[in-house]
Amino acid sequence: MKSTASAPGKVILFGEHFVLYGGKAILCSINKRIFATSQFLDEKKVKVRSSLGNAELDIRSISELDFGTTRFMRPFFYIAKRALEEHGENKGIEIVLESEVPAGIGLGSSSAVCVAVTASVNGLFERLSKQEVVKRAIEAERIIFKETSGADTSVSTFGGLMIYGTNSGFQEISSKNDLDLVIANSSQVHNTKEIVRQVRTFKEKNVDFFDQLCKQEDEIVNEALSALKKNDLNTLGLLMSKNQDLLQEIKVSTKQIDLLIREAKKTSYGAKITGAGVGGCIISLVDNSNLAATIDNLKKVADCFPVKIDYQGLLYI
Ligand code: PMV
Repeated sequence: MKSTASAPGKVILFGEHFVLYGGKAILCSINKRIFATSQFLDEKKVKVRSSLGNAELDIRSISELDFGTTRFMRPFFYIAKRALEEHGENKGIEIVLESEVPAGIGLGSSSAVCVAVTASVNGLFERLSKQEVVKRAIEAERIIFKETSGADTSVSTFGGLMIYGTNSGFQEISSKNDLDLVIANSSQVHNTKEIVRQVRTFKEKNVDFFDQLCKQEDEIVNEALSALKKNDLNTLGLLMSKNQDLLQEIKVSTKQIDLLIREAKKTSYGAKITGAGVGGCIISLVDNSNLAATIDNLKKVADCFPVKIDYQGLLYI
């Protein structure tokens, strides 16, 4: 018996970083997915196979090991061990991962994979509800990234467009906008945990200034909400570019990102970093009138591709 589930990557339209300090973020899942397929093994091992590497462990040694280069796989071992223990199953599990979401560039691959693996592994026993999957996926992700806000995991599970606050949780934004975005990859792989730490240090050294930036971000998010409801692309684009200015202030932009933003803004409605920054990707807002021109501009300087909002979230296959 095999159990397969898939979960989408995401982009952050507004509010990354500031969401960790009481602000809200607007996110959407995108039509690029990660697929996880699990099956039982007779040997008491957990095996993970993916294009980024393979790893296997005896179930007994899962809590003791330092995972070295396959550290990102740690949540998957935890998820499998927990499911086997909960069901008193004396077997092992193999998990095979396939991804359309490039890793380490701010498209939510680590959250999407936790969602897909949680659903696929537990699906060997029973199909969990989305609420249960998101709870377990966040717990699993916190093994390697304690400070995660849970925003990526939530949008990957439920899909669509959402506003997220660490206190207020997840709320769907009821707009059936079919936003078109172009993603351009700076080709600089980033480490979210490290960048979050750098921003925290910046905040501690610039308390009042950071406070002002948080207020500006709140205004941007509120205005963006009403622009989204009206499908006002001009205003949304301007707000994205304003949000980018704040991300520059907290030093998560780079020369390469600034270049991509300049190119994107020549033809699109607006552009900004998505995710932690210091590398990773930018997103630019387009529609049919300027999609091709924006791709033509950006592809001179970076890898880029168009995406749309995914409204499905987690899928059992
Ligand atoms: O770069 P990503 O996709 O891991 O996004 C990180 C977003 C942050 O706001 C910087 C952290 C978080 O957990 O919300």
